[in-house]
Amino acid sequence: MKKLFIYYSYTGNGDIVAEHLKSLGYEIRKVEANYKLSKNLFLSMMKGGFDGFRGKKPKLNNYDNNIDDYEEVIIGSPIWNGRLAPVCNSILNETNLSNKHVSFILYSGSGEAKVAIKKISKLFKNAKVVVLKEPKKYTNEVEKVGLINE
Ligand SMILES: Cc1cc2nc3c(=O)[nH]c(=O)nc-3n(C[C@H](O)[C@H](O)[C@H](O)COP(=O)(O)O)c2cc1C
Repeated sequence: MKKLFIYYSYTGNGDIVAEHLKSLGYEIRKVEANYKLSKNLFLSMMKGGFDGFRGKKPKLNNYDNNIDDYEEVIIGSPIWNGRLAPVCNSILNETNLSNKHVSFILYSGSGEAKVAIKKISKLFKNAKVVVLKEPKKYTNEVEKVGLINE
């Protein structure tokens, strides 16, 4: 069964998750978008938080949404303002995940993601969700993530 990890990362935590999943046999698709936050922390939280809140869907750069070869797909997203990061909304919008075994790995500063989990459970009835706290810092927690769909 071919397995794919599609993810977004703004500051590199998602990349640590991707490296680990690669070692477990997942193919990796990192998604880029024309989306920047201010270098100023306050402004970046304001914009990112607001865009997370309103479910913004930024335009993706050269996104390959063909997942025909895969039965299992994990979506990776940072948590912004309690929600999926805007780029992840675009991924969900542009990828036909029906008939796939879908799960999520979310990464956040607090290790929590309640609002995002609520949204995911509405969209995907049986999706498993793993939430990791700052994977760059807590790499040992990332290594505990096994084959989450098995
Ligand atoms: C705009 C913005 C909003 C964020 N909001 C939250 C939040 O509501 N809760 C939380 O726990 N972490 C929040 N974070 C922290 C990130 O979710 C966390 O650092 C995550 O690991 C980043 O993943 P990345 O490095 O792959 O982009 C926020 C970060 C940014 C940039």
